Amino acid sequence: MSQMRDKHFNICEFYIAITNRCNLQCLMCTTGKGKYGAESELSSQEWIKIIGNLERNCAIQRITFGGGEPLLRDDLGHIMKFTCACDINTVNVISNGTLFDGVFLDQFDEHELKKIGIIFSIDGLQYDHDFIRGGGTFKKTVHNFERVYKEYFLAEKIASLTVSSILMPENFSHFVDFLKEFERFKGVRFDVQPVIPNNELCYVREKFRLTEKEKAKLKEIIDYLVAHEYISTRPAPLIRSYMHYFANVLEKNGRCLTGYESLNITCEGLPYLCGKEVPMPLYAYDFKEIFYSEEYQAELERIKTCKEPCLQGLHINQENYGS
Ligand SMILES: C[S@@+](CC[C@H](N)C(=O)[O-])C[C@H]1O[C@@H](n2cnc3c(N)ncnc32)[C@H](O)[C@@H]1O
Ligand code: SF4
Repeated sequence: MSQMRDKHFNICEFYIAITNRCNLQCLMCTTGKGKYGAESELSSQEWIKIIGNLERNCAIQRITFGGGEPLLRDDLGHIMKFTCACDINTVNVISNGTLFDGVFLDQFDEHELKKIGIIFSIDGLQYDHDFIRGGGTFKKTVHNFERVYKEYFLAEKIASLTVSSILMPENFSHFVDFLKEFERFKGVRFDVQPVIPNNELCYVREKFRLTEKEKAKLKEIIDYLVAHEYISTRPAPLIRSYMHYFANVLEKNGRCLTGYESLNITCEGLPYLCGKEVPMPLYAYDFKEIFYSEEYQAELERIKTCKEPCLQGLHINQENYGS
């Protein structure tokens, strides 16, 4: 199978927004604030077709199912099972965790679970998390997280368990306390990313204006993460660059991976290149045809001119920031 692949075609990581619907309206997220229904979403069969299309054309390392809140789709498990059966290393799901009850993981067999990585979004201790994500969410999410930790992660049934946290001035004050508190979940790693002012249009960048107190708190967080690098999914030089990011002076370091090595896919099955959709659905066109289309190549050219990296996990080349 892999010998038939075009080795020059390097896209190996995909993020699929399987729905734009969400049960929360987090402070920093534009997706949760949109009015989305299930009508425009693709069927299970269309997603399966898309994943088959990607598998045919790329040496896929990782597909992450997100959204919106992916657990709002009843067929998420079915689509993930199909994905696990493909020639692929890791199948991640990123969730706000409020709907992540024990039943969801029960549907996967032992071999499927070995490929599955679970990412829970938790943005701080109870006060900050609830302020950002809505009252009562911390308790629900942490309850579900603890269960997955005990029953699936400690039992070595799943590939990984990660906490994704978005750093923003609203959670700077107690963020180190949050990290210290959650370090009791041994082996769990933290993917701490800086907030993007508009997470659907990464290239529309507002300036941050941190107070001196916020700058001092941010430095404390960075120092803590650098000193405890083993809990972080990100290398220390990248974490250090957050100071420049929030000071609006971060310069581009190397090239952005978007469209070349990683790709976002919208809930309508369209390639999504840094805020712009390419109007060729992946269930209807072969991925190679899309990649070499004028529209796709024009977006790649536009991305080359980006001077302000957003530091999103899928887009940055971590090698540029050392290891
Ligand atoms: C859009 S959510 C979709 C999955 C799920 N609903 C969740 O919250 O994990 C995926 C990730 O994007 C993050 N996110 C949301 N708004 C963001 C922003 N403005 N900047 C950076 N990341 C953001 C969320 O915190 C989450 O970790
Ligand atoms: S971050 Fe996730 S949970 Fe929060 S509004 Fe956005 S999609 Fe929903």
